[in-house]
Amino acid sequence: MQETVKLIVGDQTIELPVIVGTEGERAIDITKLRDQTGMITYDPSLGNTGVCRSEITFIDGEKGILRYRGIPIEQFADHPNFVEVAWMLIFGRLPKPDELARFSSLLTANELLHEGLKHQFDHIPPDAPPMAILSATLNNLSFYHEQFLSPQDEESFELAAARLISKVRTIAAFSYRRSLGLPFIYPDPNLRYCANFLHMMFSIPFQQYIVTPEIEDALNLVFVLHADHEQNCSTSTVRTVGSARANLFASCAAGVCALWGPLHGGANVEVIDMLERIHQGGMSPEDCIRAAKDKSNPFRLFGFGHRVYKNYDPRAKLLKASCDKVLAKLRRQDPLLDIARKLEEAALNDPYFVERKLYPNVDFYSGILLRAMGIPTNMFTVCFAIGRLPGWIAQWREQHVDASTRILRPRQVYTGPAESPYVPMEDR
Ligand code: ACO
Repeated sequence: MQETVKLIVGDQTIELPVIVGTEGERAIDITKLRDQTGMITYDPSLGNTGVCRSEITFIDGEKGILRYRGIPIEQFADHPNFVEVAWMLIFGRLPKPDELARFSSLLTANELLHEGLKHQFDHIPPDAPPMAILSATLNNLSFYHEQFLSPQDEESFELAAARLISKVRTIAAFSYRRSLGLPFIYPDPNLRYCANFLHMMFSIPFQQYIVTPEIEDALNLVFVLHADHEQNCSTSTVRTVGSARANLFASCAAGVCALWGPLHGGANVEVIDMLERIHQGGMSPEDCIRAAKDKSNPFRLFGFGHRVYKNYDPRAKLLKASCDKVLAKLRRQDPLLDIARKLEEAALNDPYFVERKLYPNVDFYSGILLRAMGIPTNMFTVCFAIGRLPGWIAQWREQHVDASTRILRPRQVYTGPAESPYVPMEDR
């Protein structure tokens, strides 16, 4: 029998249906609330509001669980394969060998940028923020490629997804090369996804960058761990823009803009800046914790806290382990890793963080791992975006194949002036 909850409004009692998710999460369906009572709900940051049903990613924030299409994230850690995970997120199941091979060859076939798009880089100032370049260039893909996609047609959607997932890495690498005034390095069709990105970033003419397996695996892991995270800020942005039937390129470009913010994907840059300041003596770990707790100070302990996780973010755990592994393999030490460990320990023993259940999130250790690969700080959030792209595409597709999807249009509680007359200029 359909579970319901009763709501008493004045002398009226209404019954609202309860929706139950696969893992037992319950939601009160209020879609008829305004019709039945004239009232709306108030939930400004949507912390208690489910905006869709989704089959892509499951998070249990209290237990620290993250699963893609039902598979625990930890199971991708030993042999991370970003391309396989991307296909699975978009199409709903693990690909068979021929499906993965076909998708990989579509990625290879789409790795170049149209020359017109490439020439646009000539007009970008060298110090332009790479996230701005990424967003603009993803949007500009519709200058050169068909923008009206039919998500029901699996074949054309697969091509569109491959086009985006492949080109994003070329755009990212070109923006880095532009910032250094170095010649663009074209993609190498013989290299796998992550190795090819590193090649475009770091090879120089006549000297190919040699990708070590540890670095390739670590980059795969970074991309896999960022690949989807249900209805976070940037994904909700992609869905909001997509709900107006904006094309996939425009929707993902909007996602990049949301991700850029320091409270979201931009936090990985803030973490490294914070650790650097401590390392250079500008601030001690104690100062940092004190400033984060001070409500009159806008400073936050970056890489800590999460809207959904009230436990250790499982992605942070895997990234921390990978930092140790990669730095040991490279026989390198990073003082920032030691500082991060100390900061984590201090925060996890501080009542402020304990009471509020603030733990390291994905951004706390990802920067240290990216640094070990030689990726510069201003490219960290771009790497996050490369990783997150399959999730955005999967969510955009899920939304578009669902016939019940309507344009996303929240309501508000108006608190401005009551009706008042227009005052002509001479009377003001
Ligand atoms: N440092 C200090 N205090 C914090 C932090 C932090 N990093 N995070 C949360 N708090 C405090 C809040 O001020 C609030 O305090 P109060 O109860 O005294 O008012 C309390 O903890 C609860 O905060 P939440 O409601 O859980 O925070 P919210 O869900 O609004 O924000 C967010 C989540 C934005 C991630 C926040 O934790 C934060 O700013 N963290 C630092 C930035 C960061 O690392 N962002 C990356 C998140 S992961 C991602 O987007 C990829």
